[in-house]
Amino acid sequence: MEIKEITLEELDTEKFIEEKVGYISSVVGNGYAINALSGGVDSAVVTMLGHSALGDRLITYIVENGIMREGEVDGVYSIFDDLGVNVKIYYAKDQFFGALKGLEDPEEKREAITQTFYKDIFGKLVKESGAKHLLQGTNLTDVRETVAGIKRQHNVLKQLGIDTQKEYGYKVIEPLVELRKPAIRKVGEALKLPIEIYNKPPFPGPALATRIIGEVTPERVETVRKATTIVEEELTDKGAFQYLAILHEDRVTGMREGKRDFGQEIQIRCWDSKDAKTGRPTELSWYTLDIMAERITEEVPGVVNVTYSITKKPPSTIEAI
Ligand code: XMP
Repeated sequence: MEIKEITLEELDTEKFIEEKVGYISSVVGNGYAINALSGGVDSAVVTMLGHSALGDRLITYIVENGIMREGEVDGVYSIFDDLGVNVKIYYAKDQFFGALKGLEDPEEKREAITQTFYKDIFGKLVKESGAKHLLQGTNLTDVRETVAGIKRQHNVLKQLGIDTQKEYGYKVIEPLVELRKPAIRKVGEALKLPIEIYNKPPFPGPALATRIIGEVTPERVETVRKATTIVEEELTDKGAFQYLAILHEDRVTGMREGKRDFGQEIQIRCWDSKDAKTGRPTELSWYTLDIMAERITEEVPGVVNVTYSITKKPPSTIEAI
């Protein structure tokens, strides 16, 4: 069934929150539900809707999958713990790196993450907790791009005809599926989430794995994680929609201390966009680009080259895989 969008202009946040809280309560009844919190605006909004509806009967997991950004897991845990949410960290680094081992094809990597997440981890957690529902923040852009065959977004399941009850042992509740990002931010503000959460640039569910071309190994994640920290520090105040660092598979010849260094290459992307459907590279100043190139080649071991992507979406996409 075609999902009807609720546009930013049409959205009445109070009515939306009331309706969705009522909907979650009625679907879950007296039971338990679980959800995965990455700390991005979508999962944060869903967590607060679920928390309002179910209180401690919503068990929220932050999955430490080894592919999150520097300090992210602990930072998100402490914000939501302070908000009174029943939140736990689930440690699963080895499971994710095991599933990603040897994979290079983008869609195979996405599929491995989806299976590890929904089947192995949440299948088990649901069974152990007695929950029957998984609450998640799938948004309209995720659904439309996946259904159009552009990219398999990790969280799109039933819209692809996947029977989650049969495959994973639980039903999925998706209260945000009629909204795009700007509308979700407005709901986040109305739910009184901290501004750093409801204004946070988007970050994909498959995390830093979407920013690594080729195999995702702990060492390669560490490289892109360090570059990401620098890019985020330098671009946070530029008013861009999203900004990221990508680790290329190619190696390039560079030089250090007068010697040849056949090293790695990081590409920076910084996007102006309204809702991720289309985008154009932000016109960054040379000064800003120069600082990032200096810092990345100085501070990220093994990187000898930094580039800036100047391609629009389409034909590019925002992430690299
Ligand atoms: P692309 O790369 O398709 O990204 O132009 C569009 C927007 O979606 C985010 N993105 C994802 N979000 N699961 C998510 O939750 C995913 O698998 C995924 N892939 C991309 C991306 O960061 C951008 O904001």
